[in-house]
Amino acid sequence: MKAAELFDVSGHVAFVTGAASGLGLAMAEVMADNGAHVVMSDIDPDTLESHTRRLAEAGASVEGVELDVADLAALRATIDNAAETRGRLDAVFANAGISAGPSYLRDGGQIDAIDLAKWDEVVHVNQTSVFATVQAAARHMKRQRSGRIVVTSSIAGLQSEHLVGYAYAVTKAAVINLVRQAAMELAPYNVTVNAVAPGPFFTNIGNGRLNDPEAVKAFTDMVPMGRIAEPSELQGLALLLASPAGSFITGTAIPIDGGCTAG
Ligand SMILES: NC(=O)c1ccc[n+]([C@@H]2O[C@H](COP(=O)([O-])OP(=O)(O)OC[C@H]3O[C@@H](n4cnc5c(N)ncnc54)[C@H](O)[C@@H]3O)[C@@H](O)[C@H]2O)c1
Repeated sequence: MKAAELFDVSGHVAFVTGAASGLGLAMAEVMADNGAHVVMSDIDPDTLESHTRRLAEAGASVEGVELDVADLAALRATIDNAAETRGRLDAVFANAGISAGPSYLRDGGQIDAIDLAKWDEVVHVNQTSVFATVQAAARHMKRQRSGRIVVTSSIAGLQSEHLVGYAYAVTKAAVINLVRQAAMELAPYNVTVNAVAPGPFFTNIGNGRLNDPEAVKAFTDMVPMGRIAEPSELQGLALLLASPAGSFITGTAIPIDGGCTAG
């Protein structure tokens, strides 16, 4: 197969959570650039609207839907609506996620200082909502007997990580085992389920923490390649997992981290 054919998702319907910024926006863009219709959802309607308008003006087939993934009923209804309106659902990116605040190296991040209300909030968004996204996608994809589900985990889900908070590390690990479990159930239905496990990327996560010079230095120092990535550098892996090129990849968590997890 030619590269263009391997990565062709034209006519496919993709759904992305947290699509107004960072990695979710990059995922939505690469799917749209390669022919998919993309339903872009986000809790921030204004930023979402500015990106969907920009992409549509450039010729992409995209639509924006305001969605807080913490609202599980709305999450399910939005995914159902995307699948029913378009008559299919080929790829779902369970990407929305939030920071859990400081790591144990910073004030307020030590184990005895963790606020359990904040813990619950992060578990709900990063874990329960990701499960509900996978669940809603699976309902349609089982019936369709095809589909791709991609969960955004982190290298913090693969190993201990001294720069993120407890709930972040725990939830990012949990979704990797969710991916393995769902991949086993859904394999006979020709539905693949994978996680991407990014190292540091320049995005707005943690209120733009990665724009703070001290954080940039700390994250850069942990990367063997000596730099933080741009969101566009995730696009190849996202497209691989959602396109014909990735047809036999399932149940994995693929690091994309400049070498962080190799050492
Ligand atoms: N940036 C990194 O270095 C990095 C590394 C590993 C994993 N990740 C993961 O990547 C994913 C995307 O984060 P990002 O870095 O692009 O951050 P980001 O803040 O740039 O983008 C996240 C988007 O999700 C949206 N969002 C937040 N809460 C939401 C909710 N409850 N419902 C719907 N949308 C919501 C935000 O409005 C924003 O548009 C997250 O799961 C994050 O944990 C990021």
